[in-house]
Amino acid sequence: MASRTDASPTTDTLPHADLARRFAATRRLSLDLAAPLSDADASAQSMADASPAKWHLAHTTWFFETFVLRDHAPGYHVFDTRYPYLFNSYYEAEGPRHTRARRGLLTRPSLDEVRVWRAHVDAALQSALPDLPRAAHMLVELGIQHEQQHQELLLTDIKHLFAQNPLGPAVWDETAFASEVAQFSAVSGSASEAAGAMRWVKGAEGIVPIGHAADGFAFDCELPQFSALLTPHALASRPVTNGEWQAFIADGGYHTPSLWLSDGWAWVEAEGIDAPLYWREGRQFTLAGWQPIDPAAPVAHISFYEADAFASWAGARLPTEFEWEAAAAALDPLGGQQLDVAGPAQPEAAGGDTGLQQMFGSVWEWTGSAYRPYPGFRPAPGAVGEYNGKFMSGQFVLRGGSCATPRGHVRASYRNFFYPHQRWQFTGVRLAKDL
Ligand SMILES: [Fe+2]
Repeated sequence: MASRTDASPTTDTLPHADLARRFAATRRLSLDLAAPLSDADASAQSMADASPAKWHLAHTTWFFETFVLRDHAPGYHVFDTRYPYLFNSYYEAEGPRHTRARRGLLTRPSLDEVRVWRAHVDAALQSALPDLPRAAHMLVELGIQHEQQHQELLLTDIKHLFAQNPLGPAVWDETAFASEVAQFSAVSGSASEAAGAMRWVKGAEGIVPIGHAADGFAFDCELPQFSALLTPHALASRPVTNGEWQAFIADGGYHTPSLWLSDGWAWVEAEGIDAPLYWREGRQFTLAGWQPIDPAAPVAHISFYEADAFASWAGARLPTEFEWEAAAAALDPLGGQQLDVAGPAQPEAAGGDTGLQQMFGSVWEWTGSAYRPYPGFRPAPGAVGEYNGKFMSGQFVLRGGSCATPRGHVRASYRNFFYPHQRWQFTGVRLAKDL
């Protein structure tokens, strides 16, 4: 769930120089994301699902120190033998660990002490890299991918934390927010314009390949490639917008039990849900503090239950993950609104009016598919194999990445997953229908 440390990179060749460069850039971005935070900001934990920013910085460092340096760099000594207990997330093979829900009580080591540890591990890894065996290079690649996942979690966790504060503090100020919007606007030609009308785009049908087959990294849950059968269907040209969500609310969507799955309705009643997370009195909380809701931007921070209820209200359904993947296979996974530099990530309106828009970036898209293994799935051996397989229970797949996903991290076969009530990630929905 909140800590992704999947296994099985499939890359055959990993040039040292490229790996060293990407390692350094990834480690740098994590520090940049935490740069606006005080030690107190970085140490607090808003809920059990979220982790302190300082913990993310430390845990990703533990990963490299443990699985690369400790296991593969001769003569390396662990920086502080007390840290593995604090910063192991859930690896049973690595022994006991500090309770997840109590990570916010770790006021020591300080943020600065964690930064010192990071620098130590970074220098040791860069020094060891040229002489490491290929297996260790693949673990460095895995560590980079792992840290990118935690960068997104760091952003969404700090957003959730700051949203609890009645002062409504901004991680980045409105100037940065405006600059981010302008930057995306320049790329998409759209941000302040209304999103185009939603259109239906016919999807592939028949037998299609699903799963990762190309060169390059993939997590084990994307493997092996297999054949799936798609029945006639269409996908919406873009995700559901805030304006469309406001219409759902105005039509009594949150008060109409017939639209909801039984578990979803129980959740709505128990939690008093009546809008996406972070919406209050016509405004929304963002990483730049409280801001107006842009009706043309994709709705974000909705649960699977809400996505499903909206689809029922709209006379549609959620796409399956296979329908989504077949449609995304021909698109550029580097496109769309994704995270390039530290700043207040926030989904913006789609630009253009042709084809499928915002498949990559902007918001993760809930699918109707349970997160389960593909036929022939085999977890990687050893501790790093603990990640994916053991979480394949009770969660649903999301596709496509978000505005908080580091660019270059996602691909058409990428499978994210969360429990159906969770919505503190940048989660949205694209409709589908049978033809
Ligand atoms: Fe992790």
